[in-house]
Amino acid sequence: MDIKLNGKKAVISGSTTGIGFAIAKGLAKAGASVLLNGRFEEQVTEAVERLKREIPGAEACGFAADLSSSVGVNELINYWPETDILVNNLGIFEPKEFFEITDEDWEHYFQVNVMSAVRLSRHYAKGMKEKGWGRVLFNGSVTGGFYLGEMVHYGAAKAAVLGLSRGLAESLAKSGVTVNAFIPGPTKTERNSEYFDHWAKESGKSFQEIEKGLFDKDLSTSLLGRFISTEEVANMVVFLASEQASAITGAALKVDGGIVRSLL
Ligand SMILES: NC(=O)c1ccc[n+]([C@@H]2O[C@H](COP(=O)([O-])OP(=O)(O)OC[C@H]3O[C@@H](n4cnc5c(N)ncnc54)[C@H](OP(=O)(O)O)[C@@H]3O)[C@@H](O)[C@H]2O)c1
Repeated sequence: MDIKLNGKKAVISGSTTGIGFAIAKGLAKAGASVLLNGRFEEQVTEAVERLKREIPGAEACGFAADLSSSVGVNELINYWPETDILVNNLGIFEPKEFFEITDEDWEHYFQVNVMSAVRLSRHYAKGMKEKGWGRVLFNGSVTGGFYLGEMVHYGAAKAAVLGLSRGLAESLAKSGVTVNAFIPGPTKTERNSEYFDHWAKESGKSFQEIEKGLFDKDLSTSLLGRFISTEEVANMVVFLASEQASAITGAALKVDGGIVRSLL
């Protein structure tokens, strides 16, 4: 399959590192012109430079904006008023016991993980509908339906993201715009690597030993038995963003190494 996204513009929220950066790289490699985002100017500039180094000839730029409020979202929209592909990737997470999660935490998680995607989609999908072509993608998580106990606020917000994705797909029926969610399992991002490297050092083990222990015990339903790479998630997103994925809409597709024990 020869995926070509030349002439397409793509916005990826929360993309200076981790899964978002890999998605931006994957889309740029396929020929799209990408807009990277994070909260801080310096990190955004560095990420754009890194992407251009890794993909020579890539069309990429960045915009620093905190998307936890309508102010930040509107600034980004003013800078980049229309797009063909929107990847609502932004999402924050941290384990916290249910009784410790405050109203402020709940509010913040919904503003960042859900409302950023609502606001970006409301603006960009309108333009896609007028043009008769577009791709809106949402980053879900296996935590949106499973493992909810570890971070209820995160899981509840991700469940809302899945509902949002399906609802928007139905609102855009027969428009030429497809809307889908992709659902990564535990992924080896820079942030996760740092955390597990630290854990490995503290316990005098190697990263591989820590990973094996984790997948033998707490994450034992994974059929892969290892972390997923950010590129493996990005590959799914690039496909969903392509012309070739034109019949896929209203779906939530797992890229989770089989960790969730269900067929659908
Ligand atoms: N990692 C996993 O195992 C995993 C598994 C399933 C799903 N996911 C989902 O994948 C997505 C990305 O996760 P990740 O682990 O790749 O994240 P990450 O490595 O922590 O990256 C987060 C990105 O978002 C930016 N960001 C954070 N807060 C922001 C804000 N308020 N406004 C704009 N940008 C902001 C960060 O830049 P700054 O901090 O510089 O602003 C960074 O670019 C999330 O939706 C997450 O729920 C992750």
